[in-house]
Amino acid sequence: MTTPRLETLAKLTPVLTKRWLSPDAWRIGTYERLDGYAALRKALKAHPDDLIQLVKDSGLRGRGGAGFPTGLKWGFIPQGDGKPHYLVVNADEGEPGTCKDLPLMTHDPHSLVEGVIIGSYAIRASRAYIYIRGEAVHAARRLRNAVQEAYAKGYLGRNILGSGFDLELVVHSGAGAYICGEETALLDSLEGFRGQPRLRPPFPATHGLYASPTVVNNVGTIASVPYIVLGGADWWKTMGTEKSAGPMIYSLSGRIADPGQYECTMGVTLRELLELAGGMQPGHNLRFWTPGGSSTPLLTAEHLDVPLDFEGVAAAGSILGTTATQIFSDQDCPVYATYRWLEFYHHESCGKCTPCREGNYWMVRVYRRILAGQGTHEDLDTLLDTCDNILGRSFCGLGDGATSSVTSSLKYFKQDYLDYIEGRTAPKLSDKQLVGA
Ligand code: NAI
Ligand code: SF4
Repeated sequence: MTTPRLETLAKLTPVLTKRWLSPDAWRIGTYERLDGYAALRKALKAHPDDLIQLVKDSGLRGRGGAGFPTGLKWGFIPQGDGKPHYLVVNADEGEPGTCKDLPLMTHDPHSLVEGVIIGSYAIRASRAYIYIRGEAVHAARRLRNAVQEAYAKGYLGRNILGSGFDLELVVHSGAGAYICGEETALLDSLEGFRGQPRLRPPFPATHGLYASPTVVNNVGTIASVPYIVLGGADWWKTMGTEKSAGPMIYSLSGRIADPGQYECTMGVTLRELLELAGGMQPGHNLRFWTPGGSSTPLLTAEHLDVPLDFEGVAAAGSILGTTATQIFSDQDCPVYATYRWLEFYHHESCGKCTPCREGNYWMVRVYRRILAGQGTHEDLDTLLDTCDNILGRSFCGLGDGATSSVTSSLKYFKQDYLDYIEGRTAPKLSDKQLVGA
């Protein structure tokens, strides 16, 4: 284990995670004792437009992966249109390696509920939904309990805290499809249809749930709002970088000594995160890693000092994504890792569009051939050509994301592919595993 330097320790900024170690923080009494619902009381005294402006001023950007400015998104909701407005929380966290929303909802569900009430008040929504991943049974139970407690205390329902504002909040469990994390597929699923992406534009901001103006925000985004209301936009901007403000929960997994969630100022580097996480496991040297889940292009040991904020990671040729930092060592094979991710995308592709449905099917087959020692040099061109026909030609981000590890592993680790093709690496798959994709 390495000991973190003091300047590295200073990057740890427990804001959203600050209550996680309090054993009963998920109960409303404990939450209230720890400042809970103070932000709601403050927010209900403000004008909704001022709250939208506050969130704009804070520079808060979406924590689900895309980093879209939250205040701007709230500001897109047309006012005085006579239509119902909805706030929908995307809690369908499913990106491989990503594990920041589930612990938040398990340890501190009221921070999300409080954020939902403030956000709904700001956009003038009287109905809100939390769409949670079907497999997350424990977190859903905690959330439902928190919602019931909030109703009992008058934080939800009619005339909240005597403000005249009404809100109904429903926790809805999905059925475990990765595609339902795509915001429009999520809305279809919530409406009772098969979850498949809709054409955008129009965006949910104007044509969302039941064709009405809808804000769809990630769990971490909404849970940040009470802290911004209490601490102010300037305080929020003291953390992070100019364009990527605030703290961020980084999920570290793989070949490291102490995996888990590390909440740090945005712009922390992997070198610093590794220091906080006790370094690599003994006998392992860093070889490649994902900055934000398997949909983001791989980075290598050369990128240890890349600032992990939206701009820094983009400049290094990848995407900050969900800040799921998966660490692989010199004992891991980038070809095999990419194959396993592709199997996931192939399995989760909803089948609506041809490039993603067919492209992933064929790429899985090509990888199996390579890993079974039967690949050819032409296979590498086929992979790149297939990616070219998926990227930018798919209906939603799932198709694009599937190509990330293929193109980046071929960019950095082509020799590993050639070693299978030219017989220097022993096959990892048997002949029997060649078929059945
Ligand atoms: P996007 O950039 O297309 O949109 C981001 C948000 O901004 C959406 O809510 C969209 O409605 C809104 N928006 C964008 N332009 C708009 C406009 N002109 N008017 C109104 N609203 C507008 O990104 P997308 O496809 O929603 O998300 C992709 C990201 O999701 C990826 O970067 C990936 O990292 C992440 N992701 C996260 C997963 C998770 O488990 N958290 C799973 C898979 C992907
Ligand atoms: Fe469905 Fe894939 Fe097309 Fe998205 S890219 S709509 S997941 S087939």
